[in-house]
Amino acid sequence: MHLDVESILITTEQLQEKVKELGAQITKDYKGKDLLAVCILKGSVIFFADLLRAIDLPLETDFVAISSYGHSTSSSGVVRLLKDLDQNIQGRNVLVVEDIIDSGLTLKYLLDNLSSRKPASLAVCTLLDKPERRMVDIDLAYNGFSIPDKFVVGYGLDYAEKYRNLPYIGVLKPEIYKD
Ligand code: IMP
Ligand code: MG
Repeated sequence: MHLDVESILITTEQLQEKVKELGAQITKDYKGKDLLAVCILKGSVIFFADLLRAIDLPLETDFVAISSYGHSTSSSGVVRLLKDLDQNIQGRNVLVVEDIIDSGLTLKYLLDNLSSRKPASLAVCTLLDKPERRMVDIDLAYNGFSIPDKFVVGYGLDYAEKYRNLPYIGVLKPEIYKD
């Protein structure tokens, strides 16, 4: 275990099993539909890469980047679109893949923006959810794990751009981020 991690919340095996389950469910739900999977950079990248390989359907991918916390551990509510989609999503079945929903402010902004482009459908698949911290209502079609209100890193999630490569979800020691 990494020295900055206080405990492992979700192991590599648990992640792999959950990704398979989510992929199987998505495969069922989108059978016969034209699926566009959208990765939210950068936190979702590892989850996205694994999830795609668990979906047994023809699909296309696209990427957006939105700013969230910078070096802090809570959402400001001020969201910036750093990189837009390359594709026109009008009439497409769009599945947004997110690493974690906390206040929900970041995703709410993105979903409002995407729905104005008239997709045929718009749904969310998140690996992690912190329901205690929610400030806006978001419909989660697919949710890997609901977790307690702890700051977690690994499997794509960072603190100040570090720890994304840890192969598990770990709780970061509070002394690492408290100022
Ligand atoms: P929200 O706008 O508060 O829902 O923040 C969502 C974004 O904040 C996520 O996409 C993550 O990038 C980041 N985030 C929220 N909680 C955590 C955490 O525990 N660890 C790492 N990143 C987090
Ligand atoms: Mg993120």
